[in-house]
Amino acid sequence: MIASILETIGNTPLITIPNSNRANEGQVLFKYERYNPGGSIKDRAAIYLVEEAERRGLLKPGGTIIESSSGNFGISLAMIGAAKGYRVIILVDPKTTSANLALLKCFGAEVIVVTEKDDCGSYHKTRISLANKLAQEIDNSYRPDQCFNLLNSEAHYKSTAREIMADCSNKITVFITAVSTGGQLGGISKYLKTFAPEVQIIGVDAVGSAIFGGQSDSYRIPGIGLGWTPSNLNMAHVDRAYKISDEQAFLTARAFARNEGILMGPSSGACALVALKLAQALQPEERIVCMVADGGERYIPTLFNDEWMEQQGFPTNIDMEAIRGMARQLQPWSVCPSTTANYRTDLTQSLEVPESTLRMNSELLARDFVEQNSSIFMD
Ligand SMILES: Cc1ncc(COP(=O)(O)O)c(C=O)c1O
Repeated sequence: MIASILETIGNTPLITIPNSNRANEGQVLFKYERYNPGGSIKDRAAIYLVEEAERRGLLKPGGTIIESSSGNFGISLAMIGAAKGYRVIILVDPKTTSANLALLKCFGAEVIVVTEKDDCGSYHKTRISLANKLAQEIDNSYRPDQCFNLLNSEAHYKSTAREIMADCSNKITVFITAVSTGGQLGGISKYLKTFAPEVQIIGVDAVGSAIFGGQSDSYRIPGIGLGWTPSNLNMAHVDRAYKISDEQAFLTARAFARNEGILMGPSSGACALVALKLAQALQPEERIVCMVADGGERYIPTLFNDEWMEQQGFPTNIDMEAIRGMARQLQPWSVCPSTTANYRTDLTQSLEVPESTLRMNSELLARDFVEQNSSIFMD
């Protein structure tokens, strides 16, 4: 028997894709995070941040959790809030799908839709800054602050990365994931570069995001991208970055639903396209672990809706052979991401990041948690 739904977070499967991956190529394995109870990888960071806050006395019984999220992290917090009895307020934006809004409400979260764009053409800064203001106004509130809180990447360092290595018996050639707050890529790349430095780390971003440098512009892939390089991500740990267009990401996700029976969202479509590209240049004994951060149900009104796709000017049907051809044509955006990093230390002040987050970060930076805990992680 399981004591709480929250104990089912993690231990997600690694899945092969035999209909899309040729036998003479590197073996692609999808880390399928849809099996988390909140339906995405974000459950892992959310439970870690909430329980660390409880442990440190930052979140007390009867408290309110306030967070900026385009969907998945908010849903995870809403689920955790419902299970633990906290009030949850989530600040979303017009890109948040109707399915995600409905899910937030299912768990009893209060939702605020922020419609004002920031100077990067996205909603991240306006959402974060309003969340910080609300946290100052509401008594007994806690801001997990996934974008600036370094516990976000620590969560993945301690759980996701270790799980992947154990599932692969420590034999991985390439690891691929998408980036927004940098929690996943930051934590997993730190772990792999520490304990398996030969693994190639690939970051996947949206065309229009500035995480790996370049101009900010608008894009439609939910959950991915940012107008700057997040502090949760150490670019020195990333070997290569790809930027994927909306159309490429959406078409790839649709093709995997039809060709493998695997539902995934657009950010995972972007990663899967890069995985197909890299597999074509590797040998069968080499493994490519590709993060599939969520399932596809929450994108039924958009990605899986033919009318919506046509409105975007995207085709509705494309077979896996055409996707494989598209993958072959991909070129990396950067083969040395640390040279194009776009860190913005000024933002903590202008967005009024809470003192509690800054104190937490100083503490994490001061102690080298890798060295301190290495014996626990490698046992
Ligand atoms: C579906 C999906 N993919 C990828 C990401 C990026 O993850 P991270 O914020 O850990 O960089 C997110 C973040 O919200 C997401 O929801």
